[in-house]
Amino acid sequence: MIPFSPPFIDDDVLQEVDDVLTSGWITTGPKVQQLEHEVKKFTGCEEVVCVNSATSGLMLALRCFGIGKDDEVIIPAYTYAATALAVYHIGAKPVMVDIKSDFTIDPEKVREAITGRTKAIIPVDIAGWPADYDALYSLVVEPEVKAKFNPTSDEQKKLGRILILSDGAHSFGATYKGKPSGFIADITIFSFHAVKNVTTAEGGCVCLNLPSPFDNNELFKKLKLMSLNGQTKDAYTKSKAGGWRYDIVLPGYKMNMPDICAAIGLAQLRKYKKYLIKERQRVALTYDNVFKP
Ligand SMILES: Cc1ncc(COP(=O)(O)O)c(C=O)c1O
Repeated sequence: MIPFSPPFIDDDVLQEVDDVLTSGWITTGPKVQQLEHEVKKFTGCEEVVCVNSATSGLMLALRCFGIGKDDEVIIPAYTYAATALAVYHIGAKPVMVDIKSDFTIDPEKVREAITGRTKAIIPVDIAGWPADYDALYSLVVEPEVKAKFNPTSDEQKKLGRILILSDGAHSFGATYKGKPSGFIADITIFSFHAVKNVTTAEGGCVCLNLPSPFDNNELFKKLKLMSLNGQTKDAYTKSKAGGWRYDIVLPGYKMNMPDICAAIGLAQLRKYKKYLIKERQRVALTYDNVFKP
């Protein structure tokens, strides 16, 4: 029997989780904050928001940009269902286009699918192989493509073009022309699901890199609110002396990551370059050798 991507659990992971369990605080708190900081350092992106899955991250990013009913989002036909479901669940229409021979979205097919309702493109870095971001960025700033763009929210107006939202569920640690995944697209979503190369059991994160005049820290705060019922204080802050009062300022979702999950991710991240990626390479090379023609 060949196991399918068993999770990497060593003493360091057990110790981190034990620290959380015995700390008296197990949901969103200091470990999540630490993981966000580490992912920011690792990718070089401006802000990171941890969530309970990549699917949630995709939905939050689309919602944050005011994308919903009557809008279209272009996705590759070859991906996992979550790419399409995230678009579907926020009320927009997923428009599937074909892929190139490298299994990533074909920018020429994207061009043919763009209409006045297109608000975002979600390239998928399938199996960690980044999509052709240069071609996609050239496309969305072409004068004819920009002329078709019909913004209906403040964020869309500020961007002035179609949003590039990378589904990087598989591409934590990957690079595209020397740039780390998470630092390439306007927004990148990573998955930390149990079979991914860094896991938190279930989880994901949103990496923000919106160009000027966006304030990525403002967007970070908005996403934090949106991921926690629109509540101005999380439970951890409320638990501090004098911190009980909060407001619900928008109809948010409940998509926050608990500290107990972040702890697994923190311990894994420390071993990522030295061990985890090397082990993935060893397994990949074994397959390459076994299936050599
Ligand atoms: C391409 C792709 N996108 C999104 C997801 C969703 O990830 P999650 O399970 O963290 O929601 C997956 C999960 O495997 C995936 O493969």
